[in-house]
Amino acid sequence: MSGRYKEQAYWDSRYREEGQLRTGGHEWFGAYRDFAHLVGRERRPGTGGLVLGCGTSSLSAELHKDGVRPLVSIDYSPVCIQEMAQRHANIPDMSWMVMDARHLQFPDGTFDLVIEKGTLDAMMVDERDPWRVTQDTITIVDQVLSEVSRVLAPSGCFMSITFSPPHFRGRHYAQPKYGWSVSCDSYGTDFHYYFYTMHKGGQLTSLDLARGQSLYKSHVDLTQTPTFLECDGEDFLNNIHL
Ligand SMILES: C[S@@+](CC[C@H](N)C(=O)[O-])C[C@H]1O[C@@H](n2cnc3c(N)ncnc32)[C@H](O)[C@@H]1O
Repeated sequence: MSGRYKEQAYWDSRYREEGQLRTGGHEWFGAYRDFAHLVGRERRPGTGGLVLGCGTSSLSAELHKDGVRPLVSIDYSPVCIQEMAQRHANIPDMSWMVMDARHLQFPDGTFDLVIEKGTLDAMMVDERDPWRVTQDTITIVDQVLSEVSRVLAPSGCFMSITFSPPHFRGRHYAQPKYGWSVSCDSYGTDFHYYFYTMHKGGQLTSLDLARGQSLYKSHVDLTQTPTFLECDGEDFLNNIHL
């Protein structure tokens, strides 16, 4: 992923270009059919959902087709939302809103299901060393996860689809304050992607808790001069405890 993926202006111009070229959009991390069985495990009749950073993906349309209704899709790119709203005009129980995933404008406990695919990855794109995440990124991800936890119904479920494996991404999710359990599946044939499922009201295991704590032990403090060990990128003993 490119460093520009963190900028709203980048996504606006990319979606404007896609619209002009009528490319039909880009699908990150495979097609819905590749992980539909993992979504299906959690879906119940009457499940309402929220898609974070929907982009021009077919994910929202597929979820809606599969019975996740009403379905709200948000993205902070107005160009993207305008395009998607036009494409799906007149479909009942489907809405599109310009919104920042860090500041969700919904009441507490609104959604049974919240899902994101590649949105957190785009927000974390500046990270150079996945073992030692900067405080800025920890804060941005925490803003999103705190908001997701807040808008989830008491037994709701958050799904996160990414290329980032459990020892890197799992520790962001495994924080007791979000009030959920964490589990991870993978899918894909040539390249594996990760499908995290967080159940609100569930418990973290002791391994999860240790992972969660390791995030704060290992983050990079940009105000400190790095030690030899940190420069060398060989902090294996700390990382082994993940
Ligand atoms: C890598 S793309 C993934 C798009 C889509 N989810 C998919 O699976 O194809 C990241 C998307 O997240 C959106 N995004 C990034 N940061 C966001 C934020 N803070 N709030 C809302 N959307 C955001 C971008 O505009 C972009 O559409």
